[in-house]
Amino acid sequence: MSKVGLFYGTDTGNTEKIAHKIQKILGAEVVTLHDVHGVKVSDFEQYDKIILGQPTWYCGELQSTWEDFWPEFQKVDFSGKQVAFFGLGDQLEYGEFFVDAMGLMHEVVLDNGGEPVGYFPNEGFMFEESKALTDDGDFFVGVVIDEDQQPERTDQRLQFWIEQIREEMDLL
Ligand SMILES: Cc1cc2nc3c(=O)[nH]c(=O)nc-3n(C[C@H](O)[C@H](O)[C@H](O)COP(=O)(O)O)c2cc1C
Repeated sequence: MSKVGLFYGTDTGNTEKIAHKIQKILGAEVVTLHDVHGVKVSDFEQYDKIILGQPTWYCGELQSTWEDFWPEFQKVDFSGKQVAFFGLGDQLEYGEFFVDAMGLMHEVVLDNGGEPVGYFPNEGFMFEESKALTDDGDFFVGVVIDEDQQPERTDQRLQFWIEQIREEMDLL
């Protein structure tokens, strides 16, 4: 079974907590965690299955360590790689920019030849706009976690999405 590299950035710890939950469910022998603070482009190259985790900050912006790494991230060749996304945000306070950063990352992965997996139904959320929606608006490009407004739904959302990426990434 191929290993999965999970890369995440966090300012206040929520995304890191979710990264650990994902690793716990899929198994530490399957998923290796990388805080994006201090990673290199070559760290991405060793995986053909990648999970990217990012919160959105300051009205639609990238979180700070992802922002620092961004010029390098745009150089990663994702061809031949499957990539799944999880995005954190706050639909009530930042409903005009809800999980936008996940959409920004998805665009880079697509431009650089990657195959996105794990699109997630846009149901059960209340927000105005998001750059992380698919063109038809029915799906987010990854699982959306709202620890500020809907923490009680987090585990169920993760379970649903992890079953999906298990199949799509052939991790069964
Ligand atoms: C100042 C501030 C700005 C934020 N901006 C956004 C935003 O534009 N869009 C969004 O969906 N969430 C936004 N959030 C919510 C965070 O993404 C959310 O709290 C997330 O869980 C933080 O993740 P972290 O602890 O991994 O940094 C913002 C939160 C704060 C405090």
